[in-house]
Amino acid sequence: MPSNKPNQKPYYITTPIYYVNDRPHIGHCYTTLIADVAARAQRLIGRDVFFLTGTDEHAEKVSKTAAENGKTPYEWATINAERFKEAFAFMNFSNDDFVRTTEDRHKIKAVQYIQQLLDQGDIELGDYEGWYDPSQEEYLTEMVAKENDFKSPVTGKPLEKRVEQNYFFKLEKYEGSLREQIESGEIRVLPEARKNEVLGRLKQGLRHVPVSRKIKEGDADWGISMPGDDQHRIYVWIEALCNYLTIVDNDERKEYWQGEVVHLMAKDIIWFHAIVWPAMLKALKKPAPKTVYAHAYWIAEGQKMSKSLGNFIEIDQLQAYAEKYSLDAVRWFLTTQGPLGANDADFAHARFIEVYNADLANSIGNSTSRVGNMFNKYFDGQVKGTCNGQFGFPDGSSLQTALIALENAGKKADDPDRTFKLAEFAGQAVDNAVCALETVDLSTMLDEGRSIVRHVDEFISYSAPFTLAKQLETLDDGEHALSSILYSCAEALRIASLLLYPAMPEKMAELWRNWNCNHLIDPNDPNSGFVAPLSELAKWGGEYGLKPGQAIVKGEALFMRADAKEPAPGSEQTA
Ligand code: MSP
Repeated sequence: MPSNKPNQKPYYITTPIYYVNDRPHIGHCYTTLIADVAARAQRLIGRDVFFLTGTDEHAEKVSKTAAENGKTPYEWATINAERFKEAFAFMNFSNDDFVRTTEDRHKIKAVQYIQQLLDQGDIELGDYEGWYDPSQEEYLTEMVAKENDFKSPVTGKPLEKRVEQNYFFKLEKYEGSLREQIESGEIRVLPEARKNEVLGRLKQGLRHVPVSRKIKEGDADWGISMPGDDQHRIYVWIEALCNYLTIVDNDERKEYWQGEVVHLMAKDIIWFHAIVWPAMLKALKKPAPKTVYAHAYWIAEGQKMSKSLGNFIEIDQLQAYAEKYSLDAVRWFLTTQGPLGANDADFAHARFIEVYNADLANSIGNSTSRVGNMFNKYFDGQVKGTCNGQFGFPDGSSLQTALIALENAGKKADDPDRTFKLAEFAGQAVDNAVCALETVDLSTMLDEGRSIVRHVDEFISYSAPFTLAKQLETLDDGEHALSSILYSCAEALRIASLLLYPAMPEKMAELWRNWNCNHLIDPNDPNSGFVAPLSELAKWGGEYGLKPGQAIVKGEALFMRADAKEPAPGSEQTA
């Protein structure tokens, strides 16, 4: 049962480590963005977070592309690892570390784990015949190979029948315990549809998996040798999975593996994460990850992205969007419209503009600038008085005054008995958001933030403070009513901004600077950490709430409206 009481364990969130044969694209940025939003949200609720991403370098395809480009594998890996680091810095990801599997800190520990499995008899030498997918560097079962017409289910390239003498991990030994762990929820495979898929495949039975590949003549000198046998290299997948543990398997970071471990990835590699890796961990006598979350795919303008179609949305295109509409708008679009659930999502320019205008320019951007403008116009840019956010009750004289003003201006409220409880509404939204975070349901978390903004918009239309402002002379408590309404709108928007922060850290920090809210340790640095946990920050009128006398600087609108007719940035087409 999800709860709104934050779990106090350290939170360790990972992304896949990405192949460095090529440059980063939207898919790599997306998974890392989701991890970033979750990490920021967990830090916001006050947890100790460790967020890891990085690059998977010892793959055959890395040495092959390196040769095609006239570079050594390591040179080529370094060029691309740098591109990933730059792209991730551009996206404002708050990862605590970036692992490259060519680093000693990873290699040394990975070898130790394999050695332990050899010593225990979990890994043995034997013959193996199977269907190998060279584009994904993995073996497929006979059944999966057949189902896919002996082509790669990911790239469609032909599979190769390979017979090898290899070292094997006895995966089948862990079949029962894996089923138990997944069925009982000890390992949560999310979303639910993926859990059913994994359990379905598990029913077909497990067989041992290769953990090495034999060195062939002409092979590049690339990869980590099998301990005790330099004729074999550790199979890249097995080595890569170890990164999640190698990087925190030390005195300073070991509590992260004892905490809540969350692995994020797309559906293509769920099997390795939900089955192979937990079995290896069981064999290594280490706790299982709590969550294995596999999202679906991005496609582009209705088509699957592929090298042959040349339609990958590359980082340059995301940069062009960010330049035009702001980075946080790109982060918002990807997070809220992306394939977080079981279905693929389409990156289409027209949709981007629609979402940008509806969610950002016309909603959060418009609300904050309207409220800021009213404070400036009516109260010299200062918070005047506080308010408990309740309107329309026996003690809610403010709303009655606003309604009288409306009537004086010749308008009737649709429902004169309507009540508003903004503080309660915002508090409930915060609770719901914290609950949603439990299952990495980031869309719901952000939607709770948006629902507060919508509620404020509704309240503004209903109470019409701009009309009230024109009647101040003739109403007894008009000024009090106006300041109560504005305070309530601003305080609700401030709470909403906390929930929206994980997706839009720069824009929300800009708002906090304009409104002089002291949420961040360094108000000028959106990555500087919070002065208190969300439960304190989000208290209506609490220690971190808006205070009488607090200056509200008008500032520029957070998001300018976008014109749907403008061409997509970074391309020639028009929408
Ligand atoms: N190196 C392995 C992972 C080892 S993890 C121990 C690998 N690398 S990869 O570069 O191919 O990255 C695959 C991951 O990139 C996917 O699981 C997903 O996180 C992301 N994406 C790649 N293409 C994607 C889309 N089209 N859409 C969304 N994300 C996708 O596999």
